Amino acid sequence: MLTLDRVCASYEDSQVLFDLEMEVAAGTVTTLLGKNGMGKTTTIRTLYGLTDNIRGDVVLNGTRINGLAPHKIAAMGVALVPEGRQVFPTLTVEENLIATARFKNKRECQMQVDKMYELFPRLAERKTSFANLLSGGEQQMLAIGRALMTMPRFLILDEATEGLAPVVRREIWMALKALKEQNYTILVIDKSLKPLCKLGDAHNILQKGALVWSGQSKELADPQSEARRHLSL
Ligand SMILES: Nc1ncnc2c1ncn2[C@@H]1O[C@H](COP(=O)(O)OP(=O)(O)OP(=O)(O)O)[C@@H](O)[C@H]1O
Ligand SMILES: [Mg+2]
Repeated sequence: MLTLDRVCASYEDSQVLFDLEMEVAAGTVTTLLGKNGMGKTTTIRTLYGLTDNIRGDVVLNGTRINGLAPHKIAAMGVALVPEGRQVFPTLTVEENLIATARFKNKRECQMQVDKMYELFPRLAERKTSFANLLSGGEQQMLAIGRALMTMPRFLILDEATEGLAPVVRREIWMALKALKEQNYTILVIDKSLKPLCKLGDAHNILQKGALVWSGQSKELADPQSEARRHLSL
């Protein structure tokens, strides 16, 4: 689905990504791991052309997308749930979902809204609440729901469960598992190794903007592994 080949990127003159190599296979859950400030968010921003001096190849389904506008990338079936749960605060839950939808047909749109309520029953209970009155966890569910209203094939989540209560985290991991079963391709950034090992098919660790390890859950789950050494403080 996505291949990064020797990707370099900067913020103005300061280079952050160095010859980054990464692959996300279709139908898999792939993770992007690394300590704070190692370049995970920058990698996502680079996919959308939102960093400077991008070099190397960013290839989506066989098409090189370097320099393509974010809306064109979205039109290619990629949806992003960015850090910090972005929802429209003064719209209700349902209005937030509808506002992001691409459907011309009202009935199809409502069917997709109902699917989101199935995925996140809490959103169904709060459908008429204004988004700014939702808890952090509910806002994150809504942010994921909004991303899915564009009917993407590829979902990217930056800090999927950061700062959320354990019970809400579980609901989000369950929803991602359900999406995986529906054959979505998912790239997830998060710091909770246990659920990532359970859900993820392939894992990538960044250090100072370069890939230092990639492998499977079995290795990542082993506290003595090389992978874990890269993640330890
Ligand atoms: N807008 C920006 N302008 C300049 N430098 C930035 C900008 N955003 C991030 N950086 C720098 O780029 C590097 C990588 O940051 P990035 O946000 O990609 O890290 P991250 O792995 O997502 O970290 P975290 O786990 O804290 O979210 C850091 O050194 C950071 O200070
Ligand atoms: Mg980040």
